[in-house]
Amino acid sequence: MLELDDRELFRERMFYGGRWHDGRRHLEVRNPADGRVLGRVPDADEAAVRAAVAAAAAAFPAWRDEGGPARGRLLQRWYELLEIHREDLARLITLEQGKPLAEARAEVDYAAGFLSWFAGEAPRAYGEVIPAARAGEHIVVLREPIGVTAAITPWNFPAAMLARKAAAALAAGCTMVARPASATPFTALALAELADRAGLPAGVFNVVTGAAERIARTLLAEEAVRKLSFTGSTAVGRELMALCAEGPKRIALELGGNAPFIVFADADLERAVAGALAAKFRNGGQTCVAANRFLVQKPVYEGFLERMAEAIGRLRVGPGWAPSVDIGPLIDQAAVDKVLDHIEDARAKGARCLVGGGLHDLGPPYVQPTLLAEVSPAMRLWNEETFGPVVGVAPFEDEAEAIALGNATPYGLAAYFYTRDLDRAWRVARALEAGMIGINEGLISNPAVPFGGVKASGMGREGAHQGLEAYLETKYLCFGGARPS
Ligand code: SIN
Repeated sequence: MLELDDRELFRERMFYGGRWHDGRRHLEVRNPADGRVLGRVPDADEAAVRAAVAAAAAAFPAWRDEGGPARGRLLQRWYELLEIHREDLARLITLEQGKPLAEARAEVDYAAGFLSWFAGEAPRAYGEVIPAARAGEHIVVLREPIGVTAAITPWNFPAAMLARKAAAALAAGCTMVARPASATPFTALALAELADRAGLPAGVFNVVTGAAERIARTLLAEEAVRKLSFTGSTAVGRELMALCAEGPKRIALELGGNAPFIVFADADLERAVAGALAAKFRNGGQTCVAANRFLVQKPVYEGFLERMAEAIGRLRVGPGWAPSVDIGPLIDQAAVDKVLDHIEDARAKGARCLVGGGLHDLGPPYVQPTLLAEVSPAMRLWNEETFGPVVGVAPFEDEAEAIALGNATPYGLAAYFYTRDLDRAWRVARALEAGMIGINEGLISNPAVPFGGVKASGMGREGAHQGLEAYLETKYLCFGGARPS
């Protein structure tokens, strides 16, 4: 098991108003790898959530007026502390989320990357000057922080998804109250500890823990909260959007996906297989951008399956802290049941199982990396996000069919395709209905890009300069009656 070098990073309290707070009720947090209790966190009541919002509201005017460069310097200091405590943060992620340690380290780098990126963006909230239509008039457009913001973050990337939201909001001059997933609160609390050490003023970044619905309702009933940013399922996203309609409050939603991964006959197959492994097996398939439907052109269909079977057969499953493990446990029993259901359903409807096909010898929550051929639109794994280590492959005839199959889903987060034909690359990229397209690339996440989806995969973008804009309001000033010079 893993021990932290800096035990102060393991916090079992909430952080708001620059101080740590306990609650009357608590929730246990378990290690998904072995079910052991790691610790407990407060189950925030309404009063605690309202106190966190009040702290964020009180901190807002000074933080807004601090200026972008000063905010950027504090974010940069926060980034440096993530780098210094990289190993401990990775251990925490592995302990509460389950992913292999090497992937947890990569997640800390990814999270730190958002802090560093937005430290650079903080001074760049540019406005504009519009040439006036009338003599003596001056028109100026300001970009101002929107105020107190709320974030509800998922369990699959407990550091990176929080950093992606918080770094952008704080860079823009907003303050934030964040609620991490109940399965993985300790990484968020460690980030709060480091924010405090970095010198972020009290109330700028706050973390409350506990029951999702109570916290969301309380946050969104607060007038001071101007925006919610949510990453999670489409079903919950719809409910949150309805709550935001009351305000109305702004909302950004990064929801589920059902990414196609298309391999054309002219593709570099070796590259396509490497990309498929990255796009599918990162975090054991538990990512919203995971490839979910593999479509392979008929002339290379069997060749792709053969190479994938070899590569998947080499993947090692086990607890995230064991050396050389590629796939950790799934997050909980419900996740295991869903993945096994998808496999069973596909097999019952005619899919051919080439590798894996069930529970791993280690038992739940470990599932065998699985390769299924001849999957079809009648199957659950075609229509729903599997969120597990299952590759389902179907053949296609031509480009038009690949595009039609790729787009035949209500979701539109990511899509991937492999080809050597430049004209086709452009055509297919334009035709696929997704917010992010990997062309001869299976790993598309990075702090400098606008991350987000279309259709039922949500709205808004995180990362890149668009990430900063998402936390800015536009104010137009009209100066009239100025004397000509
Ligand atoms: C997600 O699964 O929600 C995001 C993963 C990523 O940022 O790559």
